[in-house]
Amino acid sequence: MDIYAPKGHMVIDIGGGTTDFGILSLGDVVLSKSIKVAGDYFDRQIIDHVKTIHKLEIGTQTAESIKIKLASLTGPLPSDDEGIALTHTAMGQDLVSGLPRQAVIGAEEIRQVLLYCFEAIKSILLSTLEETPPELAGDLVDNGILLGGGYSQIDGICDYFEAIAQVPVTISDALMTAVVDGCKKLLKLNTNHFFGEL
Ligand SMILES: Nc1ncnc2c1ncn2[C@@H]1O[C@H](COP(=O)(O)OP(=O)(O)OP(=O)(O)O)[C@@H](O)[C@H]1O
Ligand SMILES: [Mg+2]
Repeated sequence: MDIYAPKGHMVIDIGGGTTDFGILSLGDVVLSKSIKVAGDYFDRQIIDHVKTIHKLEIGTQTAESIKIKLASLTGPLPSDDEGIALTHTAMGQDLVSGLPRQAVIGAEEIRQVLLYCFEAIKSILLSTLEETPPELAGDLVDNGILLGGGYSQIDGICDYFEAIAQVPVTISDALMTAVVDGCKKLLKLNTNHFFGEL
């Protein structure tokens, strides 16, 4: 992405602690917003869901495995080779007896948990688009939105955002390293600018 061009670009980074939204143009951040609804929050919501529905206390690592394995926001649910929707057998502690127990968690119930969490992300996306200067907002029709961050790897995320923003949405090829790659480029550019090519 050429962030130095006189064009508007939008980035959404869904990480562990926060989901960040940025409108970039001419090498600067024109508008940015951040919300503490991201990977860790989804884990906590899955823990609460399993507690309420399955009466089972599970740990954070189990919740993260469920979040990664069963996650999908739109379209067909994740399935095995025979087309059967995936499930995850979660080990935990029975809420009443305190004894070890397992529960089978389905992809549909996890989609519902995630869709509920994504309502907050959706509303920040809409307010970011609303506050974007019109010229730059128009550029997004061509440039679309670029997704990054660990949780942008879940199924159906592009379709989900496209339905809201009505612009093309793509996932960065370097979603786990884009931020540090960008910092490296910026550092090199600044060093060359101030001290000449090294
Ligand atoms: N294959 C995967 N599919 C879905 N989610 C994943 C996958 N791998 C990692 N994650 C999730 O991505 C999140 C971490 O993403 P990332 O590394 O971008 O966060 P971060 O940059 O450390 O956090 P922040 O940007 O909030 O400071 C975690 O919640 C993790 O569970
Ligand atoms: Mg990050």
